[in-house]
Amino acid sequence: MKQVSKDIESSMAFFKVTTSLLLLTFLSATLSLAHPGSNFGWGSGPFGGGSNGLLLQFYQFSCPQADDIVMSVLEKAIAKEPRMAASLLRLHFHDCFVQGCDASVLLDDSATIVSEKKSLPNRNSLRGFEVIDKIKAKLEEACPQTVSCADIVAMSARGSTILSGGPSWELPLGRRDSKTASLSGSNINIPPPNSTIQNLITLFNRQGLNEADLVALSGGHTIGVARCVTFKQRLYNQNGNNQPDQTLEKNYYQGLKSVCPTTGGDNIISPLDLASPARFDNTYFKLILWGKGLLTSDQVLLSGNVDKTKALVKAYALDEALFFEQFAKSMVKMGNITPLTGFNGEVRKNCRRVN
Ligand code: HEM
Ligand SMILES: *[C@@H]1O[C@H](CO)[C@@H](O)[C@H](O)[C@H]1NC(C)=O
Repeated sequence: MKQVSKDIESSMAFFKVTTSLLLLTFLSATLSLAHPGSNFGWGSGPFGGGSNGLLLQFYQFSCPQADDIVMSVLEKAIAKEPRMAASLLRLHFHDCFVQGCDASVLLDDSATIVSEKKSLPNRNSLRGFEVIDKIKAKLEEACPQTVSCADIVAMSARGSTILSGGPSWELPLGRRDSKTASLSGSNINIPPPNSTIQNLITLFNRQGLNEADLVALSGGHTIGVARCVTFKQRLYNQNGNNQPDQTLEKNYYQGLKSVCPTTGGDNIISPLDLASPARFDNTYFKLILWGKGLLTSDQVLLSGNVDKTKALVKAYALDEALFFEQFAKSMVKMGNITPLTGFNGEVRKNCRRVN
């Protein structure tokens, strides 16, 4: 008798699982037909976001136009200022490395919040907040209190990559927004531009990211700019002996000195990829091979003595498709860093403050 009821129980469970799988398969087939071009899938886990509760089709019924709204705002903003794509890509990185991808980076100072915007890596540097506000306003109109600010940042990073000529990827969604920020977390977890290769590897490992992720994601520096203050040390006193960084190519070094003086000029900007600063491509890696990486953290991927990162810089310089493929994978991985899901956190109405 006991065995029979157990059998019934397990066959019921089997039935339920089968039904939901059938339903999912049906939905998947229907959607594939509706969007024949899209590569519809459930991603790494059975339901598409891995094991962290994120789903590829999270807004499929609650806000199906979410990504279209994001893209339409991005198109305008990036057409007006190509650098905005870079700024938005970086925003996602600085969000995810501090208590996970939870839009903590967007919170302004308030009675309860000490904003991350004042941290060493972010101050006078991080940008794109107005574009996020604009996207949020449009989404609140279309789908009130539905699409989180953390997901907006993740979708903006992907859209910015696409609109700059880079790869696309299937993006798990359903992140919720934090009610807290961490200024110290921002100072501690985001690697400084003069990092050693060991330092970079350690800080990425702490987020569950490996050397392949480090090299591919550093390829984000194929677009955008950096301020003189972030590479000045390399030009005038790299090792405390008043000498420049010996890995800098000579002509490049001369050019940089002319736009980044010993004293002052801290906010003068230089392209991270001087050959194609607005184009998402693999020239970033070619430039590193030529001693023309802008930041120490860029050049040490090759000059540091870690065989793995050296080999990957060379591989991505030779094969753009390989870089794009790994960048896409690593962006999904970075986007999956400890999200708030389910009943944790909230969906902010205004990305700058908690509800
Ligand atoms: C590997 C460690 C990294 C370090 C040390 C680093 C450091 C920096 C620094 C110092 C700047 C210039 C900031 C300024 O001028 O104030 C910058 C800009 C930028 N970073 Fe990184 N970064 C790293 C990884 C990443 C990752 C993982 C991404 C994205 C996938 C990324 C995307 C960008 C972009 C797109 C810009 C240009 C932003 C703009 O023009 O507004 N970085 N980074
Ligand atoms: C990086 O820069 C900071 C701030 O200027 C400095 O304190 C630190 O010693 C530098 N680290 C290296 C490895 O040069």
